[in-house]
Amino acid sequence: MHSRIYFDHSATTPLDPRVLAAMGPFLSGAFGNPSSLHQEGRLAREAIQTARAQVASLIGAAPEEIIFTGSGTEADNLALIGAVRASGKPGHVVTSAIEHAAILETCRFLATTGTKITHLPVDPEGLVSTASLLRALQSDVTIVSVMAANNVVGTIQPIEELAHLTKLHGVLFHTDAVQAGGKIPLDVNRLRVDLLSLSAHKLHGPKGVGALYVRKGVALSPIVFGGGQERGLRSATENVAAIVGFGAAAAIAQEELAAEAARLAQFRERIARDLSQRFPDSYLFGHPVQRLPGHLSFGFRGRERELGKLLAALDRVGVAVSAGSACSAHHSGEPSAVLLAMGYDAERARGLLRLSLGRFNTQAEIDRFLEILPRAVATLTETDPPRAPRHVVDQAPLAVV
Ligand SMILES: Cc1ncc(COP(=O)(O)O)c(C=O)c1O
Repeated sequence: MHSRIYFDHSATTPLDPRVLAAMGPFLSGAFGNPSSLHQEGRLAREAIQTARAQVASLIGAAPEEIIFTGSGTEADNLALIGAVRASGKPGHVVTSAIEHAAILETCRFLATTGTKITHLPVDPEGLVSTASLLRALQSDVTIVSVMAANNVVGTIQPIEELAHLTKLHGVLFHTDAVQAGGKIPLDVNRLRVDLLSLSAHKLHGPKGVGALYVRKGVALSPIVFGGGQERGLRSATENVAAIVGFGAAAAIAQEELAAEAARLAQFRERIARDLSQRFPDSYLFGHPVQRLPGHLSFGFRGRERELGKLLAALDRVGVAVSAGSACSAHHSGEPSAVLLAMGYDAERARGLLRLSLGRFNTQAEIDRFLEILPRAVATLTETDPPRAPRHVVDQAPLAVV
């Protein structure tokens, strides 16, 4: 009996046992409130400071530039709403057409309060062009926000170039690096970004903790009010264990980044090669080179509407993959907004399968997946099996694997 193969690390990652070990004491004995002045409080405070330094180090920031939040989503909200509020004007947010909902929905909210929103177009490989940014950089722009790497197609944006142009116009630049953090090198000073969002659960850390890098001197208003923790930018008693886990996860990711990126890119290329050889009707989504190391999104021409069935078939035989992003799973069967923005027609935009590899995936799993996939794909072309009791359908051809 094989164990399951998890290829959905863009949705979330398993907790690294080393991260769990670091969190352990703060889930039991070390329960102090970091704001308390006694020894219990001091211990918690020191642990948070260590984690702050670890997360800062991952992106080349100073520890005091890291604000812990409750998620990547919250970091994105704080960046955009915080910058607009601090400007004292409704202002203008420029973002890309393929951002995560954490940005797009925040923009939708800001629009209701009078903020102008511009969505930059992307090319068929998912890249934002510097020319379109230049055209959008009018005098009323408060902040530009472009994601470092896309969660659906894995394309990595030219953040350094985009941020540089934005800074030349004296405008703030934010990047949602939730998918990129710990997977590709990120240095806030080389990139020249003012704000950068991260989320621990995408880099083998715990869920429910994120961080916003806020460059020294950048004015931001809080969106959560209370006791003034996190330099007044994120009130609430800190989630100490989760923050400690985030720190440990960041330190491990930093240490292993180069070797891990090379290993995952090799796995990805192996799968891509195999796919194109065995399935001439398959095609890759996203940029062929500027993409996350372990990320592969593809479709099958003419079978777009059947990819939900393929996902279910793979799941039944023990392989977890995703159709688009986990966050859009509620809208399955609908065309992906990211693919539509990249210029695909509604039919093509319905059929995306995403494989996202991670730290605990092995060569043996890649081999087994490449054995399983053709059988799973073959079932797509078969007519639907006659109606039968559910357990029989569930054991259809793939169960032999
Ligand atoms: C690009 C991007 N931004 C933001 C988020 C939200 O992060 P969190 O799940 O920590 O709220 C995600 C999660 O999928 C993401 O992929």
